[in-house]
Amino acid sequence: MNSLSWLRYFEANRQNFIAPDWEAPFALTIAQRACLARSLSHFQLGESGGGSHLFAKAGQEDEIYRAALRLFVAEEAEHARLLEGLVIRFGGRLIKRHWTHLLFRAARRALGLNFEIQVLLIAELVGTAYYRTLARRARDPILDQVCARILTDEARHVAFHLDRLREIHAALLPAERSAWSLQFQLLFTAALLVAWIDHRDALGAICTRRAEFYSEARKECIAFLDSLAASDDAARDRRPIGPPLADGEKALPHALA
Ligand SMILES: [Fe+2]
Ligand SMILES: [Fe+2]
Repeated sequence: MNSLSWLRYFEANRQNFIAPDWEAPFALTIAQRACLARSLSHFQLGESGGGSHLFAKAGQEDEIYRAALRLFVAEEAEHARLLEGLVIRFGGRLIKRHWTHLLFRAARRALGLNFEIQVLLIAELVGTAYYRTLARRARDPILDQVCARILTDEARHVAFHLDRLREIHAALLPAERSAWSLQFQLLFTAALLVAWIDHRDALGAICTRRAEFYSEARKECIAFLDSLAASDDAARDRRPIGPPLADGEKALPHALA
């Protein structure tokens, strides 16, 4: 994993600050705004938090990765700020506790750093489906602006975590990779069900059925697993095949091999 390039990316991305016009006119109904405000307040709570447990677990990691991780958490805090603006715009209230957040936090803290990264990754995939659905279905220019910013960042967050998982996967046996993939998909499916139960009123208020939301989220998960599998294949293809070369013998150029 090239932690330095991630650190540079996160540093540069801090300049992409947006300042939406929270007072812009509404096109959504009062009922839609109320449902969305409640739903967005749950995501706002999920995106906030200082990451102290994550940093404690990352204590053994190299300094550059830890620095990149800090900027990643700061970017999630920026999402929380934007979501706070939307909650207030839609007339809702911020919350400090919710059962989904307690579940998410318990899952994050259950095991070590790699498991926490996996839980975060699943939240990114489900969150991406949620923001994409809002952007497509809800008619609000400020919601569109915030979703566009968050979706751009979340795509890079998935790539950031993927980069780390690639290294871990490189050391796994095929059966271990299959077991990892199975548990990942089970956790993803459980997270998706929790997200639907929690947000179905808001998604229903903007005419989104369960099948549409599930399809969006499953596409994200499949794309992620395909990328991970492709990097496994690429790593295997780079491995030399054939007997070791004798002293003084030169390997054929790749194009001729
Ligand atoms: Fe986020
Ligand atoms: Fe994220």
